[in-house]
This record gives sequence, C-alpha cells and structure tokens, in this order.
Amino acid sequence: METLFTLGNGYLGVRGSLESPLAISQADLFIAGIYDRKSPVLPYSELEFLTPDSDEHPFGELASFPFPFQLLLKLDGNPLTLFDRENYDHSSILDMKKGLSFDRSVYRFSHGGEPVVLTTMRCCSAIDRHLLMHDIEINAGNRQGLLEISTSMHDPHLALNHPHLNQLPSPEVPAEVLLFETKSSGLKACLAAKVTQDGEELNTANWTTRLVPGKSVRVRRYISAFTTLDTPHDSKLTPHEMASAHLSSQSWSDFDGKLLEHEREWARRYERADIKFEGSPSLTQAQRFNIYHLLIAADHDPRTSIAARTLSGRAYGGHIFWDAEIFLLPFFLHTFPEIARTLLMYRYHTLPGARKRAHRLGYRGACYAWESTVTGEDVTPKTIVLRSMHEEIPIFTGTQQVHITADIAFALWRYWEATGDDEFMRGYGCEIFVETARFWVTRCQLEADRLFHIVKVVGPDEYHHNVTDNAFTNWMARHNLRKAIETVQWMRDRFPRDWRELTHRLNFEDHELAEWKDLEERLFLPQPNQDGLIEQFRGFFSLRDVQIEKKSRFKAPVKRLLNWDEVNQTKVIKQADTLMLFFLFPDLFPEEIIRANFEYYEAVCDHGSSLSPPVHAMVAARLGLTEIADQYYRQSLELDLMNLMQNTALGIHAACMGGAWQALMFGYLGVRFQQNPDPDLRIDPAGLPKGVRSISFNLRYRERVYSKEDVA
Ligand code: BGC
Repeated sequence: METLFTLGNGYLGVRGSLESPLAISQADLFIAGIYDRKSPVLPYSELEFLTPDSDEHPFGELASFPFPFQLLLKLDGNPLTLFDRENYDHSSILDMKKGLSFDRSVYRFSHGGEPVVLTTMRCCSAIDRHLLMHDIEINAGNRQGLLEISTSMHDPHLALNHPHLNQLPSPEVPAEVLLFETKSSGLKACLAAKVTQDGEELNTANWTTRLVPGKSVRVRRYISAFTTLDTPHDSKLTPHEMASAHLSSQSWSDFDGKLLEHEREWARRYERADIKFEGSPSLTQAQRFNIYHLLIAADHDPRTSIAARTLSGRAYGGHIFWDAEIFLLPFFLHTFPEIARTLLMYRYHTLPGARKRAHRLGYRGACYAWESTVTGEDVTPKTIVLRSMHEEIPIFTGTQQVHITADIAFALWRYWEATGDDEFMRGYGCEIFVETARFWVTRCQLEADRLFHIVKVVGPDEYHHNVTDNAFTNWMARHNLRKAIETVQWMRDRFPRDWRELTHRLNFEDHELAEWKDLEERLFLPQPNQDGLIEQFRGFFSLRDVQIEKKSRFKAPVKRLLNWDEVNQTKVIKQADTLMLFFLFPDLFPEEIIRANFEYYEAVCDHGSSLSPPVHAMVAARLGLTEIADQYYRQSLELDLMNLMQNTALGIHAACMGGAWQALMFGYLGVRFQQNPDPDLRIDPAGLPKGVRSISFNLRYRERVYSKEDVA
C-alpha cells in the first residue's frame, strides 16, 4: 500500500505511509539523484538479496530520507494510534486525477465519548517541485481536553531507517529544519517546514492545544526540500539557505491557490496522456493508475533518469536500466516528448562514464552501464548473498548485458523519428551514435566463417550467461550500426561544420565509417530455422528441457538464481528475449515466424521479471491470440495493483507499466508511424482487450496530436 500510494513529482517521491507510520513501515522520501555508497545492510532487488560490502562506488544506492508527513497526536496524554484495532477505522484515497492523497482516521475510545476524526491531505506539488503541502483537520466533536500535536519530521531511529544519512546540527530558523549529509558521497540536503494552526503560524513542530467543543483544529504545513544538486553553478547557496528562502516565500493565503494550480497541472497532464476504455471501468482505472505512476516518476533534470522502481521504493537502489529507454520512453515520447528528450539527455550526460567503462573493458567508444546512477559508471552488484542461505552467487549482467548500449541507440533513433528534433541529433545524438558504433566494432569478433559474432553476453533472459550470438543483442547491435551510419551521413551533409568539429573532438577517422559498414554487413544475425524458430543464442536448442510448473511462474527468481549454474544448462528463460525482437520490430518478420517463436518461447518462460508479461501481451495481440493476450495484458496492467510478484512493497514496476502501454498501442491497436511520403500515423487494430467497446486517447507524433477521430 505504501508503494501504491506514493506521491511525487519526479524530483522527489514520498511513499504513502500512514501519518503515524507503523513499525513495519518503510516510510521513505527519495530525492532524485541523491545517491550514496551501497549500504550492505539494505537489500538489493528482493528482501532476500544482500550485496556484500565490497562496492566502493560513492553513488551506488539511492538514499532515503525521513518521512515528511509524520503526525503524532496525543489526547490528554494518550497517543492516538492504530494499535487498538477495534477502536480504529481508517481509509486512504489516492486521487490519481488530482495527484493528491487523502486519509481519514476515526479513533474511538473504549470508555466512550465522541470519536476523534482525523482527515488529512498530502500534496507533492506538480508546479513547484521543491514544495510539499500538508493539510490536517482534527475533529473531536464536543470533546474537551488537551491535544498534543507533533508534525516533526525528526526520526529518532535515523541510523536504522535511513542508514545513508548523517544528521547535521540544525539551525534555529525556520521552525523546523533538518540538515543531512550522505555518508560517502557527501551530498547535503535540507528539509524545512513551517506550520499554522487555525491560521496562526507557530514557531515549533511540537505543541499542545486545548480542544474547543464543536470546533475542529486545522493545521497546515509547507515543507521545502533542497539538496546540493540544486545549487546554481554560480552561487554558493547551501541547501539550507535555499530551503529557508523558498519556505519563507510561501504565504499561507496562497495555500488553496497553490493546490488549485497543482490540480490544473494534473488535468493538463491527463488531457495529454489519459486513456479511456469504454466498457471496462476496471481497465480504465488500472491504466490511469499506471499513467499516474509514470508521470510522478519523471523529472526535467537530465542528470538523472527514471529508476527501475522509480522514487517509490528501495529495490535496485534507484538504479537505471534499459527499462528507461525500451519500456518507458515510448509512453513519454508520444505524450510528453520533452520528457523523452530529458531521458535521453541523461545518456548524453553519462557518456563519459560509458566511455570509461568501454575503455576499462578493453573496447573503444562507449559501453553503457547495465545499471547506472549519476555518473554513468556501472553499479551492478558483482555478487549477491542470499540472506537465508548465506550463499554468494555471481551476477554476470554487469559485464555481459551489453545490449543496453544498442537499446539506447534504438531509443535515440525512435525519438528522432517521432519528433524530428534535428538540434538534438546534431548536438548530442550523433555523438552517442559515433561512440556506440565504435564500441561494437571492437566488441564483435571475426570468426572462421568470415562473419562477426558477439560472444560472452547475457541477453534480456538473465538465466543464461557467457552465451554467443544472442539474437536480440546481435540484431540490436546491427540496428545501432545501421543508424549510426545514416546519422553520420546526415550530419556530414547537413551540418558539415558541426561534423568536422565533432570528428576533431572524437579523433574520428574516415576509415571508421567503412569499418562500421563492413561490420554491419557481416554481423551474424540469427535467422529462423526450418521450423521458423530463431535460436535465442548459439546452442540454446540443445539445452536440457524442463517443465515449468505453473506455480513457479511470475515469481521473483530467488530459487533460479540460487541454482544459477544449473539453470544455465536448461531451456528455462527468465523473460521475453527473442520475443523482444518482435516487440521492437513488429514488422521485421512474417507472421508465421512470429507465431512459431511465440509458441516456442512462451512455453519455456517463467516470467521471473515483470518486463516479460507486457511483451508477451503485445506479441500475442498482434497474432490475434486474444485470450492469451488478454491474460498477459491484465497481468501487466495490474501487476502492482494486485501485487502479482509479491514484491510491490519494494517499489512500483515502472517498466511493466510502460510495457503495458506499448502492448495496447503497438499490439492491440497496431499503431505504426510512417516517415514517407509524409510523417504520419497508421493504425491497424488486431482487436480490443476483452470487454472493451472502444478506446479514447491522444498520441503525439511530429508535433501533431492524433485522437480517436484521426485514426478511426
Ligand atoms: C530484469 C531486467 C530489468 C531489471 C530492472 C530484472 O529482473 O531481468 O530486464 O532491467 O529487472 O527492472
């Protein structure tokens, strides 16, 4: 629930914990970009996974901060708590339309008397990303008595709850200021709050008030959050100074106005991004829930990107994966293209990290990290310790899952096609293309058949490592090279001066282009065999067959990882791998090939990753396998709402949400974009999800907004 009820604005995310968090709560606030060295006491992607204390990277894990909406109440000395269940009644509402959450608690007393009703509203402003607002009403009917109120954000168990932080001494003003410094990365952050009761500003966060019969108590708070990353280049302002100035500029008379502006901004967002399913309110609701979570995850700061579990939970330490480009980007590209641009700018900013990494691995150009944070260096754990078994297992993805480099190039191309943003390509994209093509030239190796092969990789299916010619990786690398060649030719013709400047800066030599072309032509691309099947990698078809039990599907892959070496010898796969080709290139292969591969690979997949069901939904929908498509589609749309993988507590599965959006658009509806003769959008529906009569939505393509009427 805390995950589902998260509020945020891309700059920060606050989990939806109760105002008086329970002992088992994970009441966190996250601020995008604030990372610290991996703490060995915190789990990695599952509660069962620990990482050994060997990771020295100073920006290895997203730091969590204390809960800003904490509220403790005592009536005549007695705390109002959840523990006395019989006397307690609670409801939480996430208003996805307005981007607000509302809580209502009714405290009853065994000795009788009127209950105390607490209603609260929380807001992470969509207009001012540093601002949180908290509105509290305490209605005690005709009761009298002394009410103690604490809105302090102070966490007495900071070391346990937020192990990345050192708390620094607090200055006197404003009424409540918390200053923190991350332990290894040395980033500073300030949370400051001011509060009014019944219109009167208080200079404390803990106070007592006398109840007046028939009159409720109204408390309002503004909270400001700033960090070192917000310091403008030319100023020496500290987070504390920024937060204090920001907070004092908030006037109480504007409180309602600010809320209204926030709601208007949310209305504007839905105008662009909403999807309505006529005939299925439950699908509409699930889809809106996903849109809500995607929107609160995105920021305009190109120094960070969207982490696998957004700012809604601790899993994967806030690391950024291929999820961002392959699963999330299309949603933003066709609703808020400016956000898609920011996501790609993150990859431009982290190009130095990707260069370093290529160099370290013995290659040229840029090799993007499988998991990265602010520097772009690889932060994938090298091993994981299974908590209950004390067993240490190796993780190969960090060194071998190289398709991410081509995935980023794929997204760049897609962005360019959909926006025609030549300035972006000229200023940033082309450089990424050059560096990624250079990487493939050194990463691919020539074998006796006079073809180039890619050895020792992990494909999207992470159960198999050290494999050769993973079909997805090879096809993606080929696409990367092809588009690099086209981009360079375009740049040379259209912007010769910029191209000269770039070649100079990158020491680019003319023979390199010929090398790319040679590699592009002679890179081995796994093709369908006589049964129409594309082998996932060399030798996959000879692996041992295993029956996958139904109950071991859609589970976090703890057991599989434990038997990692054995699993490597079998045909069980973790997630869509070869099928990813049809997901990204739906028109590349004839239908009967796609069908044969779907039937084959679906049967051996245990969906140990949430990225898997939406890909299956998309491909099945294209094939007209309606029942299977519907089943995967629902699973994808409702993965977190239904806690299908039983790990939603650790954060939202954003890639699955982005994948479900694509399953609808590119699978069921068959949306395709064409470049010639003019940029346009085509639609070729394969059917609608079960129970749906019609669907309304808007899509952006090349500065045009297409609505249902345009494509009917
Ligand atoms: C999946 C990856 C994914 C990562 C983060 C893993 O379980 O196998 O494909 O990028 O989770 O979502």
